[in-house]
Amino acid sequence: MPGPGAYWFGDEEMEAVMEVMQGGNLFRYGDENDPKFLHKVSTLETEFAKYCEINHALATSSGTSALLVSLIASGLKPGDEIIVPAYTFVATYSSCIFAGIVPVLAEIDESLSLDPDDIERKITSRTKAIMPVHMLGNPCNMDWIMEIARKHNLLVLEDSCQAAGASYKGKKVGTIGHMGAFSLNIFKTINSGDGGLVVTNDHKLYETAFGVHDQGHKPNRFGVEVGTRSVLGLNFRINEITAAVGLAQLNKLDRIVGTLREKRSKLKNLISEAKGFKFRILNDSEGDTATLCTVIFDTREQAVKVTKALGSKTIDQSGWHVYANMEHVLSHLKEVGQPYTKGSYPKTDDILSRAMNISIGVVDSGLGAGWGININSTDAEIEAAAEQFCEACK
Ligand SMILES: Cc1ncc(COP(=O)(O)O)c(C=O)c1O
Repeated sequence: MPGPGAYWFGDEEMEAVMEVMQGGNLFRYGDENDPKFLHKVSTLETEFAKYCEINHALATSSGTSALLVSLIASGLKPGDEIIVPAYTFVATYSSCIFAGIVPVLAEIDESLSLDPDDIERKITSRTKAIMPVHMLGNPCNMDWIMEIARKHNLLVLEDSCQAAGASYKGKKVGTIGHMGAFSLNIFKTINSGDGGLVVTNDHKLYETAFGVHDQGHKPNRFGVEVGTRSVLGLNFRINEITAAVGLAQLNKLDRIVGTLREKRSKLKNLISEAKGFKFRILNDSEGDTATLCTVIFDTREQAVKVTKALGSKTIDQSGWHVYANMEHVLSHLKEVGQPYTKGSYPKTDDILSRAMNISIGVVDSGLGAGWGININSTDAEIEAAAEQFCEACK
């Protein structure tokens, strides 16, 4: 049950893959004088940077590696604290933990992303960064978050993994803070199977990120230079085939988001006559990707009744996107002096226990979005889903 990009796989992706196979060079580097080396990775980077209107993009093997590379490149040190939301995918936490950085969880608000009020309460002398997560394609309240960051001299690394194509007040998410990370996995707006992207305007951060993602090399190396590596890196490279698919999908991104917005708007209009719920807050109603339509019921009882009738579940039951369900993360955090348990975030618990994700483009029961429509749904299917939802609300 994938994201919208997968529904729209077509000849473009297939031809792009075949082109790379026929050229025979699957590695991100190749002989610059060989016309069969197609530069898919570097083209993806250039095109994504252009799309985001930002100076640099670096393609990586996944969204998780994009996060890890950003965290390491940004100069955060083991023991530093970073404020993250209590509702996000496990990789937001695990990437921090593997870099030795301590994720300090903060409450979410009814946008289902970081509650700026709670960020302030979580700041200590060890806090060095904030990681807003544009959860479910909905941009965070970035004006407020950037104001807090400036006031306390904090870095802002945007986890935009679920939000390729989203923007906040005219700027693409991921480009507002110091660095942004995206995912191209199967559940995302566009997908290449797996894959990720780091974006930044800062040339130094880009160079360091490049080195971290590829054994310390400078961007777009041509050989195996010795003596010019200033950072220690690992291998988080993406390959030419994956990038070829990513490029074909990137060309469809605006059309995907436009179609999702249209379909969600139809569904929203039709279900708004039902009682007992409200739609989640959109921090920029023009800017979210509309991959989901999230509703927050007035009571837990109503939420359980409706989700059960539709064969879905409330978000608090949706596995590894909810801090309270991540026993392995909680047990690690306890060891580093952050003793969270189920119930540590009452506002988040309350909102998630009354909320339901209706799929519009991302059909993913792991997000609690196993019910709804998809990017190819017809008007008749949208009307039928809306009728079912309204009936369940009675
Ligand atoms: C919010 C968030 N961050 C990070 C990731 C990690 O991305 P990937 O699966 O590409 O490693 C995901 C993917 O599900 C995500 O939803």
